Amino acid sequence: MDKADIKRILENAGKVTVCLAGDICLDAYWLADMKKSRLSRETPHFPLPVTQERYSLGGGGNAAANFAALGVKKVMPVSVIGDDWRAVLVKNCLAKSGIDGGYVVADAGRVTPCYCKPLRSGISDTVYEDPRLDFENYSPLSEETEEKLLAALKEAAEKADIIAVCDQLEYGVITPKIRECLCEIAKKKPVVADSRDRIALYKNAIIKPNDVEAAAALGGNATGTEAAAKTLSEKTGAPVIITEGAKGAVWCEAGKTVFVPALKIEPPVDTVGAGDTFLAAFCAAYAAGESGEKAVEFANLACAVTVKKIGVTGTVSPEEILALA
Ligand SMILES: Nc1ncnc2c1ncn2[C@@H]1O[C@H](COP(=O)(O)OP(=O)(O)OP(=O)(O)O)[C@@H](O)[C@H]1O
Ligand SMILES: [Mg+2]
Repeated sequence: MDKADIKRILENAGKVTVCLAGDICLDAYWLADMKKSRLSRETPHFPLPVTQERYSLGGGGNAAANFAALGVKKVMPVSVIGDDWRAVLVKNCLAKSGIDGGYVVADAGRVTPCYCKPLRSGISDTVYEDPRLDFENYSPLSEETEEKLLAALKEAAEKADIIAVCDQLEYGVITPKIRECLCEIAKKKPVVADSRDRIALYKNAIIKPNDVEAAAALGGNATGTEAAAKTLSEKTGAPVIITEGAKGAVWCEAGKTVFVPALKIEPPVDTVGAGDTFLAAFCAAYAAGESGEKAVEFANLACAVTVKKIGVTGTVSPEEILALA
């Protein structure tokens, strides 16, 4: 893809409005300096003296941050948060990224999902990651909150050029009713869905599984990526993208598949969050009027930037993409 192509896509993506339906989470990084640790008097443990803390948007929030970093006109996440310290941090992160929090429903009965990563440093150059502390919900949304969310989704989707879906958590915001609404919207507007466990439940929407998720959606009957894309596309009645990590991605539309190779990236790479960057870049380009194949090519480019960002679920700026051409 040459510079002129990239410039055109970025310029048109700047006019795109996005609705992002999905689980907004918080990623917390607590860096402990173990040189400062003194044995506790009450327990046989060395405490973790936290000297630095960092917070960023995770889950669907990371996809929203990727849309914002790409410079789309507006991104409207449709999600649910609780009334806890993590909700405050989520709102701060959204505001800092220039993301409209107006469609995020607050429910004091819910837990704002968060993944806290304690990191021990100070003894050697190696930073050791402790087991994560996870905050999640273990029950479905109340009917009342689901109704509020449904109303928020309909309103945001009406205003949007494209709807991106991050259906991640078991007890998340993409309930059967919300998914049904998304599949209805997909008859009229592009909806692009990403889900590790539930991609097989989408109809009319463009689905974006990776190769493993695609095989699982077909009941483990592996037939090769291009054949899988065709079968899934017949089932959904819409185009399908299957990403294949370092190889690239397959685009399937109207029974025809095309393989779009990724850029060759020298290690070290960190592919955490590549899926979110792909989703955001694809949607931005597709809603900007590019063909599916060109939008996949653009998404591969955007991911080539993020996989070089080690230790963070990164975002990509227009300048960083332009620098690749
Ligand atoms: N090692 C790599 N080198 C170059 N590009 C890569 C590499 N790994 C991933 N990518 C890019 O990122 C895209 C998405 O990667 P992948 O198929 O791993 O998604 P995923 O499994 O959904 O990721 P996630 O773990 O974020 O859910 C690929 O289609 C490709 O463009
Ligand atoms: Mg993924």
